[in-house]
Amino acid sequence: MTTTTLPFDELRARILALTEGETDEIALMATIACELHHADDRFDWTGFYRVTAPGLLKIGPYQGGHGCLTIPFDRGVCGAAARSGETQLVRDVEAFPGHIACAASTRSELVIPLRDSQGEVFAVLDIDSDQPDAFDAEDAERLEALMKTVFFGHQRTARG
Ligand code: SME
Repeated sequence: MTTTTLPFDELRARILALTEGETDEIALMATIACELHHADDRFDWTGFYRVTAPGLLKIGPYQGGHGCLTIPFDRGVCGAAARSGETQLVRDVEAFPGHIACAASTRSELVIPLRDSQGEVFAVLDIDSDQPDAFDAEDAERLEALMKTVFFGHQRTARG
């Protein structure tokens, strides 16, 4: 299947230009979700879950169909990323114990934890694909680096 993907360097430059000087977390998340989602046909659901209480994720800005509203740290791919602080690259969601299917169409998933300057996870970026094995290590590394630049390149005071 051919996929339409905006070259990552163009997507990165576009997101950095759109978020330059912005320090509001929701504004940053909404802009990133929109730009990522519309830049890549592989992305079927693109959005953020925020840590709103110890051990609890609550949905944030997203693009795509319905997203589950609340995810405890001990559940799903998002919970695993928040709990471990490690990126979760899931090639086949059927093979991931405890995967939460907000949409039956999801075949593969990439979840990247966002850490503050104290190293605490404050949110996760969650991308679902309706294509099997849609993501690779390069996707993960590039998006991890971009999230660091967007959320910390702007020196936000809220979380230091
Ligand atoms: N599949 C995720 C839940 C969120 S939906 O993908 C939007 C999980 O297992 O954590």
